[in-house]
Amino acid sequence: MATDPKILELRQRREQAYLGGGQRRIEQQHAKGKRTARERIDLLLDEGSFQELGAFVTQRTTGFGADSQTYYGDGVVTGYGTINGRLVYVFSQDFTVFGGSLGEAHAEKICRVMDHAMKNGAPLIGLNDSGGARIQEGVVSLGGYADIFLRNVLASGVIPQISAVMGPCAGGAVYSPAMTDFIIMVKDTSYMFVTGPDVVRTVTHENVTFEELGGARVHNEKSGVAHFAAENEEQGLALIRKLLAYLPQNNMEEPPLVRPTDDPLRAEEALDSIVPDVPTKPYDMKEVIRLVVDDGEFLEVHEHYAQNIIVGFARLNGRAVGIVAQQPMVLAGCLDINSSDKGARFVRFCDCFNIPIITFEDVPGFLPGVGQEHGGIIRHGAKLLYAYCEATVPKITVITRKAYGGAYDVMSSKHIRGDLNYAWPTAEIAVMGPDGAVNILYREEIANAADPEAMKQKLTQEYRDHFANPYIAAGRGYVDDVIEPHQTRARLIAGLEMLQNKRDTNPPKKHGNIPL
Ligand code: HXC
Repeated sequence: MATDPKILELRQRREQAYLGGGQRRIEQQHAKGKRTARERIDLLLDEGSFQELGAFVTQRTTGFGADSQTYYGDGVVTGYGTINGRLVYVFSQDFTVFGGSLGEAHAEKICRVMDHAMKNGAPLIGLNDSGGARIQEGVVSLGGYADIFLRNVLASGVIPQISAVMGPCAGGAVYSPAMTDFIIMVKDTSYMFVTGPDVVRTVTHENVTFEELGGARVHNEKSGVAHFAAENEEQGLALIRKLLAYLPQNNMEEPPLVRPTDDPLRAEEALDSIVPDVPTKPYDMKEVIRLVVDDGEFLEVHEHYAQNIIVGFARLNGRAVGIVAQQPMVLAGCLDINSSDKGARFVRFCDCFNIPIITFEDVPGFLPGVGQEHGGIIRHGAKLLYAYCEATVPKITVITRKAYGGAYDVMSSKHIRGDLNYAWPTAEIAVMGPDGAVNILYREEIANAADPEAMKQKLTQEYRDHFANPYIAAGRGYVDDVIEPHQTRARLIAGLEMLQNKRDTNPPKKHGNIPL
Protein backbone atom coordinates (compact mmCIF):
# COMPACT_ATOMS: atom_id res chain seq x y z
CA MET A 1 0.00 0.00 0.00
CA ALA A 2 1.69 3.18 -1.23
CA THR A 3 1.81 6.13 1.12
CA ASP A 4 4.16 8.39 -0.82
CA PRO A 5 2.05 11.50 -1.53
CA LYS A 6 3.54 11.86 -5.02
CA ILE A 7 2.52 8.32 -5.93
CA LEU A 8 -0.91 8.89 -4.43
CA GLU A 9 -1.29 12.08 -6.44
CA LEU A 10 -0.32 10.25 -9.62
CA ARG A 11 -2.87 7.55 -8.91
CA GLN A 12 -5.55 10.05 -8.19
CA ARG A 13 -4.82 11.91 -11.43
CA ARG A 14 -4.82 8.66 -13.37
CA GLU A 15 -8.16 7.67 -11.90
CA GLN A 16 -9.50 11.01 -13.00
CA ALA A 17 -8.12 10.44 -16.50
CA TYR A 18 -9.86 7.06 -16.64
CA LEU A 19 -13.17 8.77 -15.94
CA GLY A 20 -12.94 10.90 -19.11
CA GLY A 21 -15.87 13.33 -19.09
CA GLY A 22 -17.18 11.90 -15.81
CA GLN A 23 -19.44 9.20 -14.46
CA ARG A 24 -22.66 10.87 -15.60
CA ARG A 25 -21.53 11.00 -19.22
CA ILE A 26 -20.22 7.42 -19.01
CA GLU A 27 -23.69 6.36 -17.93
CA GLN A 28 -25.22 8.32 -20.81
CA GLN A 29 -22.86 6.53 -23.17
CA HIS A 30 -23.91 3.15 -21.79
CA ALA A 31 -27.57 4.12 -21.99
CA LYS A 32 -27.11 4.65 -25.74
CA GLY A 33 -25.91 1.04 -26.02
CA LYS A 34 -22.31 2.20 -26.54
CA ARG A 35 -19.14 1.33 -24.68
CA THR A 36 -16.57 3.86 -23.54
CA ALA A 37 -13.32 4.45 -25.39
CA ARG A 38 -11.37 2.43 -22.81
CA GLU A 39 -13.85 -0.43 -22.68
CA ARG A 40 -13.52 -0.76 -26.44
CA ILE A 41 -9.73 -0.87 -26.26
CA ASP A 42 -9.93 -3.58 -23.60
CA LEU A 43 -12.12 -5.69 -25.87
CA LEU A 44 -9.95 -5.09 -28.91
CA LEU A 45 -6.48 -5.80 -27.58
CA ASP A 46 -4.91 -8.83 -25.94
CA GLU A 47 -5.70 -8.71 -22.24
CA GLY A 48 -3.39 -6.39 -20.31
CA SER A 49 -1.36 -5.44 -23.38
CA PHE A 50 -2.47 -1.80 -23.72
CA GLN A 51 0.17 0.83 -23.06
CA GLU A 52 -1.36 4.28 -22.98
CA LEU A 53 0.40 7.37 -24.31
CA GLY A 54 -0.70 10.92 -23.55
CA ALA A 55 -3.18 10.16 -20.77
CA PHE A 56 -2.53 13.54 -19.15
CA VAL A 57 -2.70 15.68 -22.28
CA THR A 58 -5.23 18.51 -22.00
CA GLN A 59 -6.66 21.08 -24.38
CA ARG A 60 -5.29 24.64 -24.46
CA THR A 61 -8.23 26.60 -25.83
CA THR A 62 -10.01 29.38 -24.01
CA GLY A 63 -13.42 30.88 -24.61
CA PHE A 64 -16.87 29.51 -25.34
CA GLY A 65 -16.72 27.50 -22.13
CA ALA A 66 -13.78 25.39 -23.30
CA ASP A 67 -11.41 26.49 -20.53
CA SER A 68 -13.92 25.66 -17.82
CA GLN A 69 -13.95 22.07 -19.04
CA THR A 70 -10.51 20.54 -19.11
CA TYR A 71 -10.31 16.79 -19.10
CA TYR A 72 -7.27 14.55 -19.06
CA GLY A 73 -6.77 12.86 -22.40
CA ASP A 74 -8.69 15.52 -24.33
CA GLY A 75 -11.30 13.14 -25.67
CA VAL A 76 -9.13 10.45 -27.17
CA VAL A 77 -7.32 7.47 -25.67
CA THR A 78 -4.16 6.60 -27.60
CA GLY A 79 -1.41 4.03 -27.34
CA TYR A 80 -0.28 0.60 -28.45
CA GLY A 81 -0.78 -3.02 -27.54
CA THR A 82 -1.04 -6.40 -29.18
CA ILE A 83 -3.63 -8.42 -31.06
CA ASN A 84 -2.85 -12.13 -31.11
CA GLY A 85 0.62 -11.17 -29.88
CA ARG A 86 1.30 -8.75 -32.76
CA LEU A 87 1.91 -5.02 -32.23
CA VAL A 88 -0.83 -2.54 -33.18
CA TYR A 89 -1.36 1.17 -32.54
CA VAL A 90 -4.76 2.42 -31.55
CA PHE A 91 -6.72 5.57 -30.93
CA SER A 92 -10.17 5.50 -29.43
CA GLN A 93 -12.29 8.65 -29.31
CA ASP A 94 -13.98 9.36 -26.01
CA PHE A 95 -17.48 10.71 -26.58
CA THR A 96 -17.76 11.65 -22.89
CA VAL A 97 -15.31 14.52 -23.43
CA PHE A 98 -16.70 17.30 -25.66
CA GLY A 99 -18.59 14.59 -27.56
CA GLY A 100 -15.30 13.08 -28.72
CA SER A 101 -14.83 16.19 -30.84
CA LEU A 102 -11.42 16.82 -32.31
CA GLY A 103 -9.33 19.77 -31.21
CA GLU A 104 -5.65 20.59 -31.38
CA ALA A 105 -4.39 18.36 -28.55
CA HIS A 106 -6.72 15.51 -29.52
CA ALA A 107 -5.40 15.64 -33.10
CA GLU A 108 -1.79 15.78 -31.92
CA LYS A 109 -2.31 12.61 -29.88
CA ILE A 110 -3.72 10.77 -32.89
CA CYS A 111 -0.88 12.01 -35.11
CA ARG A 112 1.66 10.81 -32.58
CA VAL A 113 0.43 7.21 -32.67
CA MET A 114 0.17 7.39 -36.45
CA ASP A 115 3.82 8.47 -36.61
CA HIS A 116 4.81 5.60 -34.32
CA ALA A 117 2.85 3.15 -36.45
CA MET A 118 4.62 4.31 -39.58
CA LYS A 119 8.11 4.30 -38.08
CA ASN A 120 7.67 0.91 -36.49
CA GLY A 121 5.68 -0.70 -39.29
CA ALA A 122 2.56 -1.84 -37.46
CA PRO A 123 -1.18 -1.50 -38.19
CA LEU A 124 -3.16 1.50 -37.02
CA ILE A 125 -6.67 1.04 -35.68
CA GLY A 126 -8.97 4.02 -35.15
CA LEU A 127 -12.14 3.69 -33.08
CA ASN A 128 -14.24 6.68 -34.11
CA ASP A 129 -16.99 8.19 -31.97
CA SER A 130 -16.98 11.94 -32.37
CA GLY A 131 -19.04 15.07 -32.92
CA GLY A 132 -16.42 16.19 -35.46
CA ALA A 133 -14.38 19.37 -35.40
CA ARG A 134 -14.39 20.91 -31.90
CA ILE A 135 -16.42 24.03 -32.44
CA GLN A 136 -14.62 26.08 -29.75
CA GLU A 137 -11.25 25.49 -31.42
CA GLY A 138 -12.27 26.70 -34.87
CA VAL A 139 -9.70 26.49 -37.62
CA VAL A 140 -7.16 24.87 -35.30
CA SER A 141 -9.41 21.85 -35.23
CA LEU A 142 -9.71 21.84 -39.03
CA GLY A 143 -5.92 21.95 -39.19
CA GLY A 144 -5.80 18.97 -36.83
CA TYR A 145 -8.00 16.97 -39.20
CA ALA A 146 -5.79 17.85 -42.14
CA ASP A 147 -2.73 16.69 -40.20
CA ILE A 148 -4.46 13.33 -39.78
CA PHE A 149 -5.61 13.13 -43.40
CA LEU A 150 -2.08 13.66 -44.64
CA ARG A 151 -0.79 10.88 -42.40
CA ASN A 152 -3.58 8.57 -43.57
CA VAL A 153 -2.45 9.07 -47.13
CA LEU A 154 1.26 8.72 -46.43
CA ALA A 155 0.56 5.52 -44.48
CA SER A 156 -1.66 4.11 -47.23
CA GLY A 157 -0.02 1.02 -48.68
CA VAL A 158 2.66 1.05 -45.97
CA ILE A 159 0.74 -0.16 -42.92
CA PRO A 160 -2.80 -1.55 -42.75
CA GLN A 161 -5.22 1.09 -41.45
CA ILE A 162 -8.54 -0.02 -40.04
CA SER A 163 -11.38 2.23 -38.90
CA ALA A 164 -14.28 1.25 -36.72
CA VAL A 165 -17.11 3.76 -36.62
CA MET A 166 -18.90 3.33 -33.30
CA GLY A 167 -20.92 6.51 -33.01
CA PRO A 168 -21.20 9.73 -34.97
CA CYS A 169 -18.69 10.48 -37.71
CA ALA A 170 -19.83 13.54 -39.58
CA GLY A 171 -18.67 16.37 -41.80
CA GLY A 172 -15.13 16.37 -43.08
CA ALA A 173 -14.28 13.95 -40.27
CA VAL A 174 -15.52 11.10 -42.46
CA TYR A 175 -12.52 11.49 -44.72
CA SER A 176 -10.06 10.00 -42.30
CA PRO A 177 -11.85 6.62 -42.14
CA ALA A 178 -12.58 6.94 -45.87
CA MET A 179 -8.85 6.95 -46.61
CA THR A 180 -8.12 3.89 -44.48
CA ASP A 181 -8.24 0.36 -45.83
CA PHE A 182 -11.33 -0.97 -44.09
CA ILE A 183 -14.32 0.60 -42.36
CA ILE A 184 -16.39 -1.36 -39.88
CA MET A 185 -19.70 0.14 -38.78
CA VAL A 186 -21.98 -0.94 -35.96
CA LYS A 187 -25.66 -1.35 -36.76
CA ASP A 188 -28.02 1.18 -35.14
CA THR A 189 -25.36 3.11 -33.17
CA SER A 190 -23.02 4.48 -35.82
CA TYR A 191 -23.46 6.83 -38.72
CA MET A 192 -21.36 8.67 -41.28
CA PHE A 193 -22.33 11.59 -43.49
CA VAL A 194 -20.87 14.76 -44.91
CA THR A 195 -23.98 16.78 -44.09
CA GLY A 196 -26.58 15.63 -41.58
CA PRO A 197 -30.37 15.27 -41.83
CA ASP A 198 -31.04 18.92 -40.89
CA VAL A 199 -28.86 20.32 -43.66
CA VAL A 200 -30.26 17.80 -46.12
CA ARG A 201 -33.79 18.88 -45.19
CA THR A 202 -32.94 22.56 -45.72
CA VAL A 203 -31.12 22.10 -49.00
CA THR A 204 -32.95 19.30 -50.79
CA HIS A 205 -36.18 19.10 -48.76
CA GLU A 206 -35.61 15.39 -48.18
CA ASN A 207 -36.64 14.01 -44.82
CA VAL A 208 -34.32 11.29 -43.55
CA THR A 209 -33.26 9.92 -40.21
CA PHE A 210 -29.60 9.57 -39.16
CA GLU A 211 -29.84 5.82 -39.80
CA GLU A 212 -31.44 6.21 -43.23
CA LEU A 213 -28.90 8.81 -44.29
CA GLY A 214 -25.69 7.26 -43.06
CA GLY A 215 -26.21 4.18 -40.91
CA ALA A 216 -24.32 0.91 -41.13
CA ARG A 217 -26.82 -0.71 -43.49
CA VAL A 218 -26.79 2.18 -45.97
CA HIS A 219 -23.01 2.32 -46.14
CA ASN A 220 -22.66 -1.44 -46.42
CA GLU A 221 -25.40 -2.02 -48.97
CA LYS A 222 -25.78 1.16 -50.99
CA SER A 223 -22.79 3.47 -50.89
CA GLY A 224 -20.05 0.89 -50.39
CA VAL A 225 -18.32 3.30 -47.98
CA ALA A 226 -18.17 0.64 -45.26
CA HIS A 227 -16.79 -2.87 -45.65
CA PHE A 228 -18.35 -4.59 -42.66
CA ALA A 229 -21.60 -4.19 -40.68
CA ALA A 230 -21.32 -5.50 -37.15
CA GLU A 231 -24.38 -6.41 -35.09
CA ASN A 232 -22.82 -4.77 -32.03
CA GLU A 233 -19.54 -3.30 -30.79
CA GLU A 234 -18.16 -6.62 -29.50
CA GLN A 235 -18.66 -8.21 -32.89
CA GLY A 236 -17.09 -5.23 -34.64
CA LEU A 237 -13.99 -5.35 -32.45
CA ALA A 238 -13.70 -9.14 -32.82
CA LEU A 239 -13.86 -8.64 -36.57
CA ILE A 240 -10.80 -6.37 -36.46
CA ARG A 241 -8.85 -9.10 -34.66
CA LYS A 242 -9.96 -11.64 -37.25
CA LEU A 243 -9.12 -9.38 -40.18
CA LEU A 244 -5.62 -8.58 -38.93
CA ALA A 245 -4.79 -12.29 -38.78
CA TYR A 246 -4.69 -12.31 -42.60
CA LEU A 247 -2.54 -9.19 -42.94
CA PRO A 248 1.17 -8.52 -42.65
CA GLN A 249 2.30 -5.81 -40.25
CA ASN A 250 3.48 -3.63 -43.13
CA ASN A 251 4.22 -3.66 -46.84
CA MET A 252 7.75 -5.05 -46.32
CA GLU A 253 6.47 -8.23 -44.69
CA GLU A 254 4.68 -11.31 -45.94
CA PRO A 255 1.27 -12.13 -44.46
CA PRO A 256 1.49 -14.47 -41.45
CA LEU A 257 1.68 -18.17 -42.19
CA VAL A 258 -0.42 -20.29 -39.86
CA ARG A 259 0.03 -24.01 -39.21
CA PRO A 260 -2.43 -25.64 -41.62
CA THR A 261 -5.21 -27.76 -40.17
CA ASP A 262 -6.72 -28.87 -43.47
CA ASP A 263 -5.42 -31.47 -45.95
CA PRO A 264 -3.70 -29.68 -48.87
CA LEU A 265 -4.69 -32.53 -51.17
CA ARG A 266 -8.33 -32.58 -50.07
CA ALA A 267 -10.36 -33.32 -53.20
CA GLU A 268 -13.97 -32.17 -53.12
CA GLU A 269 -15.95 -34.32 -55.53
CA ALA A 270 -18.93 -31.96 -55.08
CA LEU A 271 -17.05 -29.40 -57.17
CA ASP A 272 -17.20 -31.69 -60.21
CA SER A 273 -20.95 -31.20 -60.50
CA ILE A 274 -21.41 -27.73 -59.05
CA VAL A 275 -21.62 -25.95 -62.43
CA PRO A 276 -25.09 -26.70 -63.89
CA ASP A 277 -25.42 -28.20 -67.37
CA VAL A 278 -27.61 -25.30 -68.45
CA PRO A 279 -25.25 -22.34 -69.01
CA THR A 280 -27.78 -19.77 -67.86
CA LYS A 281 -28.48 -21.52 -64.55
CA PRO A 282 -26.81 -19.94 -61.54
CA TYR A 283 -24.84 -21.66 -58.80
CA ASP A 284 -23.35 -20.31 -55.59
CA MET A 285 -19.72 -19.30 -56.05
CA LYS A 286 -19.37 -18.92 -52.28
CA GLU A 287 -19.88 -22.65 -52.06
CA VAL A 288 -16.99 -23.15 -54.51
CA ILE A 289 -14.80 -20.90 -52.35
CA ARG A 290 -15.76 -22.69 -49.13
CA LEU A 291 -15.05 -26.11 -50.63
CA VAL A 292 -11.60 -25.03 -51.81
CA VAL A 293 -10.13 -22.96 -48.95
CA ASP A 294 -8.70 -24.18 -45.63
CA ASP A 295 -11.45 -25.42 -43.29
CA GLY A 296 -14.08 -23.63 -45.40
CA GLU A 297 -13.22 -20.36 -43.66
CA PHE A 298 -13.78 -17.24 -45.71
CA LEU A 299 -13.77 -13.69 -44.32
CA GLU A 300 -15.91 -11.83 -46.79
CA VAL A 301 -15.25 -8.11 -47.31
CA HIS A 302 -18.01 -5.84 -48.63
CA GLU A 303 -20.43 -8.74 -48.21
CA HIS A 304 -23.53 -6.62 -48.71
CA TYR A 305 -22.33 -4.37 -51.53
CA ALA A 306 -22.22 -5.17 -55.27
CA GLN A 307 -22.92 -8.82 -54.58
CA ASN A 308 -22.27 -9.83 -58.19
CA ILE A 309 -18.60 -9.88 -57.21
CA ILE A 310 -17.24 -11.57 -54.09
CA VAL A 311 -14.05 -10.44 -52.36
CA GLY A 312 -12.45 -11.56 -49.12
CA PHE A 313 -9.69 -13.37 -47.32
CA ALA A 314 -9.04 -17.06 -46.80
CA ARG A 315 -6.10 -19.41 -46.41
CA LEU A 316 -4.67 -22.13 -48.60
CA ASN A 317 -2.44 -24.53 -46.69
CA GLY A 318 -1.97 -21.85 -44.05
CA ARG A 319 -1.04 -19.10 -46.51
CA ALA A 320 -3.28 -15.99 -46.57
CA VAL A 321 -4.87 -15.23 -49.94
CA GLY A 322 -7.25 -12.62 -51.27
CA ILE A 323 -10.12 -14.07 -53.26
CA VAL A 324 -11.97 -12.30 -56.04
CA ALA A 325 -14.85 -14.17 -57.65
CA GLN A 326 -17.94 -13.59 -59.69
CA GLN A 327 -21.25 -14.56 -58.12
CA PRO A 328 -23.46 -16.07 -60.86
CA MET A 329 -26.44 -15.81 -58.49
CA VAL A 330 -26.48 -12.00 -58.68
CA LEU A 331 -26.82 -10.24 -62.07
CA ALA A 332 -25.39 -13.45 -63.59
CA GLY A 333 -22.01 -12.39 -62.20
CA CYS A 334 -21.54 -9.64 -64.77
CA LEU A 335 -19.22 -6.71 -64.11
CA ASP A 336 -20.93 -3.39 -63.49
CA ILE A 337 -19.87 -0.05 -62.04
CA ASN A 338 -20.05 -1.00 -58.39
CA SER A 339 -18.56 -4.47 -58.70
CA SER A 340 -15.65 -3.05 -60.69
CA ASP A 341 -14.94 -0.48 -57.98
CA LYS A 342 -15.25 -3.09 -55.26
CA GLY A 343 -12.98 -5.56 -57.02
CA ALA A 344 -10.39 -2.94 -57.94
CA ARG A 345 -10.03 -1.64 -54.42
CA PHE A 346 -9.61 -5.13 -53.02
CA VAL A 347 -7.05 -6.17 -55.65
CA ARG A 348 -5.03 -3.04 -54.91
CA PHE A 349 -5.16 -3.71 -51.18
CA CYS A 350 -3.84 -7.25 -51.69
CA ASP A 351 -1.11 -5.98 -53.97
CA CYS A 352 -0.03 -3.33 -51.43
CA PHE A 353 0.37 -5.94 -48.74
CA ASN A 354 1.87 -8.93 -50.60
CA ILE A 355 -1.26 -11.04 -50.45
CA PRO A 356 -1.60 -13.43 -53.42
CA ILE A 357 -4.81 -13.08 -55.40
CA ILE A 358 -6.94 -16.07 -56.37
CA THR A 359 -9.61 -15.32 -58.97
CA PHE A 360 -12.61 -17.55 -59.63
CA GLU A 361 -14.08 -16.39 -62.90
CA ASP A 362 -17.55 -16.82 -64.33
CA VAL A 363 -18.32 -13.60 -66.10
CA PRO A 364 -20.73 -13.11 -69.00
CA GLY A 365 -19.29 -9.63 -69.64
CA PHE A 366 -19.96 -6.05 -68.60
CA LEU A 367 -23.55 -5.16 -67.72
CA PRO A 368 -25.32 -3.53 -70.68
CA GLY A 369 -27.58 -0.52 -70.19
CA VAL A 370 -27.92 3.22 -70.57
CA GLY A 371 -27.57 3.67 -66.81
CA GLN A 372 -24.27 1.82 -66.79
CA GLU A 373 -22.87 3.61 -69.83
CA HIS A 374 -23.89 7.05 -68.60
CA GLY A 375 -22.68 6.21 -65.13
CA GLY A 376 -19.24 5.56 -66.56
CA ILE A 377 -18.85 1.79 -66.71
CA ILE A 378 -15.93 2.44 -69.06
CA ARG A 379 -14.13 4.46 -66.40
CA HIS A 380 -15.08 2.16 -63.54
CA GLY A 381 -14.44 -1.10 -65.39
CA ALA A 382 -11.03 0.31 -66.29
CA LYS A 383 -10.19 0.51 -62.59
CA LEU A 384 -10.47 -3.24 -62.18
CA LEU A 385 -8.46 -3.84 -65.34
CA TYR A 386 -5.84 -1.34 -64.15
CA ALA A 387 -5.67 -2.91 -60.69
CA TYR A 388 -5.12 -6.41 -62.02
CA CYS A 389 -2.57 -5.21 -64.59
CA GLU A 390 -0.51 -3.33 -62.03
CA ALA A 391 -0.62 -6.06 -59.35
CA THR A 392 2.68 -7.90 -59.00
CA VAL A 393 1.69 -10.36 -56.26
CA PRO A 394 1.16 -14.01 -57.27
CA LYS A 395 -2.04 -14.23 -59.29
CA ILE A 396 -3.84 -17.49 -59.99
CA THR A 397 -7.08 -17.69 -61.93
CA VAL A 398 -9.61 -20.48 -62.24
CA ILE A 399 -12.23 -20.07 -64.97
CA THR A 400 -15.20 -22.08 -63.78
CA ARG A 401 -17.59 -21.23 -66.60
CA LYS A 402 -17.94 -18.05 -68.65
CA ALA A 403 -15.02 -15.85 -69.58
CA TYR A 404 -16.53 -13.62 -72.22
CA GLY A 405 -15.34 -10.51 -73.94
CA GLY A 406 -13.32 -7.77 -72.27
CA ALA A 407 -14.15 -9.33 -68.93
CA TYR A 408 -11.98 -12.34 -69.93
CA ASP A 409 -9.03 -9.99 -70.25
CA VAL A 410 -9.83 -8.11 -67.05
CA MET A 411 -10.13 -11.03 -64.67
CA SER A 412 -6.41 -11.69 -64.26
CA SER A 413 -5.90 -13.23 -67.68
CA LYS A 414 -2.46 -14.48 -68.66
CA HIS A 415 -2.04 -11.47 -70.94
CA ILE A 416 -2.05 -9.11 -67.95
CA ARG A 417 0.47 -11.11 -65.96
CA GLY A 418 -1.73 -13.83 -64.48
CA ASP A 419 0.88 -16.33 -63.26
CA LEU A 420 -1.19 -19.47 -63.45
CA ASN A 421 -4.47 -19.68 -65.32
CA TYR A 422 -6.60 -22.77 -65.00
CA ALA A 423 -9.95 -23.64 -66.50
CA TRP A 424 -12.52 -26.22 -65.55
CA PRO A 425 -13.89 -28.38 -68.40
CA THR A 426 -17.11 -26.34 -68.09
CA ALA A 427 -15.28 -23.16 -69.12
CA GLU A 428 -16.52 -21.14 -72.09
CA ILE A 429 -13.90 -18.69 -73.29
CA ALA A 430 -15.12 -16.54 -76.16
CA VAL A 431 -15.73 -13.01 -77.38
CA MET A 432 -19.37 -13.31 -76.40
CA GLY A 433 -22.11 -15.82 -75.58
CA PRO A 434 -23.61 -17.97 -78.37
CA ASP A 435 -26.91 -16.09 -78.68
CA GLY A 436 -25.34 -12.68 -79.09
CA ALA A 437 -22.66 -13.95 -81.46
CA VAL A 438 -25.08 -15.75 -83.77
CA ASN A 439 -27.37 -12.73 -83.95
CA ILE A 440 -24.49 -10.56 -85.09
CA LEU A 441 -22.75 -13.00 -87.43
CA TYR A 442 -25.83 -14.53 -89.11
CA ARG A 443 -28.55 -11.88 -88.95
CA GLU A 444 -29.33 -12.18 -92.68
CA GLU A 445 -29.14 -15.99 -92.85
CA ILE A 446 -31.53 -16.29 -89.94
CA ALA A 447 -33.96 -13.72 -91.35
CA ASN A 448 -33.98 -15.38 -94.80
CA ALA A 449 -34.23 -18.96 -93.57
CA ALA A 450 -37.42 -20.94 -94.17
CA ASP A 451 -37.56 -21.62 -90.45
CA PRO A 452 -35.62 -18.77 -88.74
CA GLU A 453 -35.93 -20.26 -85.26
CA ALA A 454 -34.59 -23.67 -86.35
CA MET A 455 -31.76 -21.96 -88.24
CA LYS A 456 -30.88 -19.90 -85.21
CA GLN A 457 -30.80 -22.95 -82.98
CA LYS A 458 -28.58 -24.84 -85.44
CA LEU A 459 -26.10 -21.97 -85.72
CA THR A 460 -26.10 -21.40 -81.97
CA GLN A 461 -25.29 -25.04 -81.38
CA GLU A 462 -22.46 -24.88 -83.92
CA TYR A 463 -21.05 -21.82 -82.21
CA ARG A 464 -21.41 -23.46 -78.83
CA ASP A 465 -19.64 -26.64 -80.02
CA HIS A 466 -16.79 -24.56 -81.37
CA PHE A 467 -16.30 -21.86 -78.75
CA ALA A 468 -18.02 -22.90 -75.51
CA ASN A 469 -15.07 -24.80 -74.14
CA PRO A 470 -11.61 -24.10 -72.74
CA TYR A 471 -9.59 -25.93 -75.40
CA ILE A 472 -9.02 -23.13 -77.89
CA ALA A 473 -7.56 -21.00 -75.08
CA ALA A 474 -5.59 -24.00 -73.79
CA GLY A 475 -4.29 -24.63 -77.31
CA ARG A 476 -2.96 -21.10 -77.38
CA GLY A 477 -1.43 -21.44 -73.93
CA TYR A 478 -3.78 -18.77 -72.57
CA VAL A 479 -4.77 -21.24 -69.88
CA ASP A 480 -2.02 -23.37 -68.40
CA ASP A 481 -4.18 -26.41 -67.86
CA VAL A 482 -7.72 -27.67 -67.89
CA ILE A 483 -8.27 -29.24 -64.50
CA GLU A 484 -10.93 -31.41 -62.94
CA PRO A 485 -12.75 -29.22 -60.42
CA HIS A 486 -12.02 -31.50 -57.46
CA GLN A 487 -8.29 -30.92 -58.05
CA THR A 488 -8.65 -27.16 -57.64
CA ARG A 489 -7.48 -26.94 -54.03
CA ALA A 490 -4.38 -29.05 -54.59
CA ARG A 491 -3.48 -27.18 -57.79
CA LEU A 492 -3.89 -23.76 -56.13
CA ILE A 493 -1.75 -24.78 -53.18
CA ALA A 494 0.97 -26.20 -55.42
CA GLY A 495 0.84 -23.01 -57.49
CA LEU A 496 1.15 -20.75 -54.45
CA GLU A 497 4.14 -22.70 -53.23
CA MET A 498 5.78 -22.46 -56.63
CA LEU A 499 5.12 -18.69 -56.66
CA GLN A 500 6.14 -17.96 -53.08
CA ASN A 501 9.36 -16.20 -54.09
CA LYS A 502 7.84 -14.40 -57.05
CA ARG A 503 9.38 -11.03 -57.78
CA ASP A 504 7.92 -8.76 -60.42
CA THR A 505 8.07 -5.00 -60.72
CA ASN A 506 6.46 -2.15 -62.58
CA PRO A 507 8.51 0.54 -64.36
CA PRO A 508 9.82 3.23 -61.98
CA LYS A 509 7.44 6.18 -61.83
CA LYS A 510 6.06 8.65 -59.34
CA HIS A 511 2.72 6.86 -59.44
CA GLY A 512 0.36 5.62 -62.10
CA ASN A 513 -2.82 7.41 -63.05
CA ILE A 514 -5.61 4.94 -62.30
CA PRO A 515 -8.84 6.13 -63.96
CA LEU A 516 -10.59 7.31 -60.79
C1 HXC B 1 -17.67 20.68 -29.31
C2 HXC B 1 -19.31 19.11 -29.06
C3 HXC B 1 -19.33 18.86 -30.45
C4 HXC B 1 -18.43 19.62 -31.27
C5 HXC B 1 -20.77 17.59 -29.54
N1 HXC B 1 -20.23 18.30 -28.54
N2 HXC B 1 -20.24 17.93 -30.72
N3 HXC B 1 -18.49 19.99 -28.51
N4 HXC B 1 -17.62 20.50 -30.65
N5 HXC B 1 -18.38 19.43 -32.58
C6 HXC B 1 -20.53 18.19 -27.11
C7 HXC B 1 -21.91 18.71 -26.74
O1 HXC B 1 -21.85 20.07 -26.49
C8 HXC B 1 -22.19 17.90 -25.48
O2 HXC B 1 -21.49 18.47 -24.41
C9 HXC B 1 -21.53 16.58 -25.77
O3 HXC B 1 -20.56 16.81 -26.79
C10 HXC B 1 -22.48 15.53 -26.27
O4 HXC B 1 -23.24 16.06 -27.33
P1 HXC B 1 -24.82 15.92 -27.41
O5 HXC B 1 -25.29 16.84 -28.47
O6 HXC B 1 -25.43 16.08 -26.04
O7 HXC B 1 -24.94 14.41 -27.83
P2 HXC B 1 -25.97 13.72 -28.81
O8 HXC B 1 -27.37 14.19 -28.51
O9 HXC B 1 -25.69 12.26 -28.75
O10 HXC B 1 -25.61 14.29 -30.26
C11 HXC B 1 -24.37 13.99 -30.82
C12 HXC B 1 -24.15 14.82 -32.12
C13 HXC B 1 -24.35 16.30 -31.79
C14 HXC B 1 -25.17 14.38 -33.17
C15 HXC B 1 -22.76 14.50 -32.61
O11 HXC B 1 -23.58 16.64 -30.62
C16 HXC B 1 -23.93 17.19 -32.89
O12 HXC B 1 -24.68 17.38 -33.87
N6 HXC B 1 -22.74 17.77 -32.78
C17 HXC B 1 -22.23 18.66 -33.77
C18 HXC B 1 -21.82 17.89 -34.96
C19 HXC B 1 -21.19 18.78 -35.99
O13 HXC B 1 -21.86 19.49 -36.73
N7 HXC B 1 -19.84 18.78 -36.03
C20 HXC B 1 -19.12 19.56 -36.91
C21 HXC B 1 -19.11 18.77 -38.20
S1 HXC B 1 -18.16 19.59 -39.38
P3 HXC B 1 -21.93 18.27 -22.89
O14 HXC B 1 -21.03 19.21 -22.14
O15 HXC B 1 -23.37 18.62 -22.82
O16 HXC B 1 -21.67 16.85 -22.55
C22 HXC B 1 -16.68 18.95 -39.10
C23 HXC B 1 -15.68 19.52 -39.98
C24 HXC B 1 -14.49 18.64 -40.05
O17 HXC B 1 -16.45 18.12 -38.32
C25 HXC B 1 -13.67 19.21 -41.14
C26 HXC B 1 -12.51 18.36 -41.43
C27 HXC B 1 -11.89 18.79 -42.70
